[in-house]
Amino acid sequence: NWKMGDFTQLEIARIRELVGERALVLGAVSGGVDSTVGAALMREAIGDRFKAILIDTGCMRLNECETVKINLGKHLGINLTVVEAGELFMSRLAGVSDPEKKRKIIGSTFIDLFEKEAIRIEKEAENTPNSGKVEFFLQGTLYPDVIESLSFRGPSATIKTHHNVGGLPERMMNGQGLRLIEPLRLLFKDEVRAIGRQLGIHESLVNRHPFPGPGIAIRILGDVTKERVEIARKADNIFITKIKEAGLYDQISQAFAGLDTNRSVGVFGDQRVWGYIVILRAVRTKDFMSADIFDFDTSFLKDVSRTICNQVEGVARVVYDLTSKPPGTIELE
Ligand code: XMP
Repeated sequence: NWKMGDFTQLEIARIRELVGERALVLGAVSGGVDSTVGAALMREAIGDRFKAILIDTGCMRLNECETVKINLGKHLGINLTVVEAGELFMSRLAGVSDPEKKRKIIGSTFIDLFEKEAIRIEKEAENTPNSGKVEFFLQGTLYPDVIESLSFRGPSATIKTHHNVGGLPERMMNGQGLRLIEPLRLLFKDEVRAIGRQLGIHESLVNRHPFPGPGIAIRILGDVTKERVEIARKADNIFITKIKEAGLYDQISQAFAGLDTNRSVGVFGDQRVWGYIVILRAVRTKDFMSADIFDFDTSFLKDVSRTICNQVEGVARVVYDLTSKPPGTIELE
């Protein structure tokens, strides 16, 4: 693919020129294809002066942080720093159920942690051959994010605040003089994947379903509590494992299990229970701007439902979301 090959070389050259000989670049990596490709480009362009961190929000998928750290080390030679911040996110989100408020809190907590990390990284680099100031911040923004955020800035109603677009506040940009690097800003997802393959990124990473920065927090409607996150995480793991076992993973663009706000009555043995409602979502899309639901066989969904109810304590009901985008968004919030 000539177009993508040219893009990669040009982008690496552009990054080198922009960053110069000394500056350090901080990048938040999530393990998704966008941030992984962004990180691979940075690594290719400036080597160890690119510093990758992963913020553990406490709202990541099961074993996510460990897996991402191993994959980035093994496939890209990137030494990822995992910043444990689950308690901080949980305490700031306590009692907040409004989707936009949740997103804003998560976004500003990310920024607080990036600032702290920038200071730590500069200190750590002192007296090494790579000493320098953190002058840039990598974001894996894609073209569809840019478009959705433009409508957010306009007079019409917000679609939703993407925490990775225009998300850096004045104090970080002007106060610390940080500049953004967004190497994927003009690309669609399939183009990012093509570049990922070209950079030699493993197929299992390139084909990974996207996972939003705010994580499970925007997949559980209403309050974010440790218990609710844990239930959604276990249900999600069962759903995704079953999808993989059925050989359906690559036919689906994005799938996950979330939680409804309310509970529902169920019956286990001869006991009535007042349990959680798991919402399964699976979509097919090319560009993530519009999407169709995935047509599972009913027998597959029945099996997933039975397994979740049997294995995840506290769940009384499992539903499959039949809403395309539009009118529904892919995430639940
Ligand atoms: P929606 O829910 O807007 O999602 O239809 C479209 C795509 O964007 C992802 N998404 C996000 N990714 N930070 C991210 O990094 C966010 O705040 C965010 N919100 C949505 C979503 O997973 C889907 O792939």
